Amino acid sequence: MRQRRRFSWACACLLSLGQGCGGTQPTASQSAICAALSSNQTLLSANATVQCGGQDGRWSDYAAPQPGAVVTVGAEDDIATLVRLANALEVPFLLQSGANGWADTFALDTRGLVLDVSQLKDVAFNEARSQVAFQAGVLIEDLVAAAWQNNARVATGTCNCVSVLGAGLGGGLGRGAGLYGLGLDQLLAVHYVDAEGRQRTVTNASDADLWWAIKGAGPNFGLVTSVVYQSYAVAQADNTAWTGLLYFNDSAIEDIVGAIDRLALEPEMQLDFYFTQGLVAVLPFYLGDEATGRAKFASVLDIGPELDATAVTSYDAWNAAGDAFCAKGGRKPSYEANLQTLDPTAWRQVWDAYSLFYETYAEANLTTLLTECYSTAKMQEIGSAESAYPWRDIKCYSIVIPWYTSEALDAAANAFGQEVRSILSASSGTDAFSAYINFAHGDETLAEVYGDSLSRLQTLKKTYDPNGRLNQWFPLS
Ligand SMILES: Cc1cc2nc3c(=O)[nH]c(=O)nc-3n(C[C@H](O)[C@H](O)[C@H](O)COP(=O)(O)OP(=O)(O)OC[C@H]3O[C@@H](n4cnc5c(N)ncnc54)[C@H](O)[C@@H]3O)c2cc1C
Ligand SMILES: *[C@@H]1O[C@H](CO)[C@@H](O)[C@H](O)[C@H]1NC(C)=O
Ligand SMILES: *[C@@H]1O[C@H](CO)[C@@H](O)[C@H](O)[C@H]1NC(C)=O
Ligand SMILES: *[C@@H]1O[C@H](CO)[C@@H](O)[C@H](O)[C@H]1NC(C)=O
Ligand SMILES: *[C@@H]1O[C@H](CO)[C@@H](O)[C@H](O)[C@H]1NC(C)=O
Ligand SMILES: *[C@@H]1O[C@H](CO)[C@@H](O)[C@H](O)[C@H]1NC(C)=O
Repeated sequence: MRQRRRFSWACACLLSLGQGCGGTQPTASQSAICAALSSNQTLLSANATVQCGGQDGRWSDYAAPQPGAVVTVGAEDDIATLVRLANALEVPFLLQSGANGWADTFALDTRGLVLDVSQLKDVAFNEARSQVAFQAGVLIEDLVAAAWQNNARVATGTCNCVSVLGAGLGGGLGRGAGLYGLGLDQLLAVHYVDAEGRQRTVTNASDADLWWAIKGAGPNFGLVTSVVYQSYAVAQADNTAWTGLLYFNDSAIEDIVGAIDRLALEPEMQLDFYFTQGLVAVLPFYLGDEATGRAKFASVLDIGPELDATAVTSYDAWNAAGDAFCAKGGRKPSYEANLQTLDPTAWRQVWDAYSLFYETYAEANLTTLLTECYSTAKMQEIGSAESAYPWRDIKCYSIVIPWYTSEALDAAANAFGQEVRSILSASSGTDAFSAYINFAHGDETLAEVYGDSLSRLQTLKKTYDPNGRLNQWFPLS
């Protein structure tokens, strides 16, 4: 039998009181939410755990929320219970799933509550593998593994450690984008807890306005507990792609960037490129056989990589190249710009800025520039009327990730991130600077993040969250 205490008053709680661990009685200096939870042990499901005090273990420690309590929920019902309790106590709260969100918009202070949903991991495919129901704690690696086992494919983001819904409620860019559209385009039904702590279900048929808003601005409208999502039946033997890293000498940057700028990405194609550890790497992806993949990416291959590590790869290993970026901890105040065009001169300036930062600050040696480019035809065919996601025509998303440990470097890192972003945005080929909500820093205007969807979203926010309880992530009110 599993032995698990309902409440584990973990060390963080008592450290803040200057005592050892082990007690179960909160004291007056604890947050109101901790005190309330400890005085009523029947409130939450048996599997829930409570930790008083702050937390670590997020992807970036920079601007990370510092809550008064973290409850790891044991069941979807716990989320509704906790929202009602937090509202009664007038305490701010934040749902946390993969803990990767890096934006500096979190406003939880030590009164606040984090609802950690990472234990909610149920995944169930239907018989035809055309649909999959899953819970909020399911990470991309979990869903990909389950899909692979079930001879299916799903459209998720590209990094294993990210929660499917954390990515998907704001967009969800990944290898399936060319064939299937964004993560949020896969949603068929959403079960959520509203700002008042009521459990609801929304579909396109039930409430078209809210359905539209949740797909692009989800965290502003509800705490999504589980969803039904589209899935595509693909036998394991057919579920392979040609992909892998190509390493280049940095003298090739202008050629690489020019080739990517001219490359028409077909639905089966996707491409990332990185500046990392002083190197230039390109990651082509082709959903098909190697010979065709090489032909489709010939303009990049012809530049002459110094190392070609591409191979035919099975679906359950497609995301492996991103695992290095998943490493948790450290400070990573990241910035992004949406790009329609890639300008070789600008990218030389970006390389120079990257090299200078990387070489000047030894501890920032994991600093990375990550650019992801997509085929946009399917996303555009689905169209903006179906969701609040505003950037369906954007080809490339370029993220600068300063990565270091000491707070003393914050100012230099932010200056570097802003400098790179401004070089990129000045040459982006878009009408105005814009950023994808899940990659944005938090210093953008709301229009730069929500685009043409902003005013409709703000109107809907007044209806669905009139008291601004769901205001931690690029708040709309
Ligand atoms: C290493 C790395 C790789 C990435 N790769 C991709 C990628 O390939 N494609 C892509 O599109 N994005 C990608 N992203 C960006 C990613 O989409 C965002 O960081 C996303 O916000 C992370 O969600 P999370 O649940 O993992 O993190 P969290 O920090 O737990 O959540 C981020 C925000 O989303 C909210 N949220 C999460 N789940 C829910 C829910 N169920 N209901 C309501 N609100 C919710 C949280 O409250 C929080 O405000 C990547 C990020 C990192 C760090
Ligand atoms: C504890 O919570 C339960 C369920 O919400 C409620 O019925 C009960 O009255 C609460 N008890 C106390 C002491 O607050
Ligand atoms: C509690 O968690 C265990 C292990 O994760 C699981 O087997 C069990 O079903 C859970 N109980 C409830 C009531 O959810
Ligand atoms: C959603 O509903 C609207 C009508 O409210 C309809 O025009 C649209 O086609 C529906 N979308 C889907 C994907 O069914
Ligand atoms: C890159 O190419 C330049 C010019 O061709 C050469 O001088 C340099 O040594 C090369 N760098 C590496 C790391 O191979
Ligand atoms: C990066 O810097 C850290 C901390 O200074 C150091 O421990 C590590 O070895 C360095 N890694 C590389 C690849 O240089």
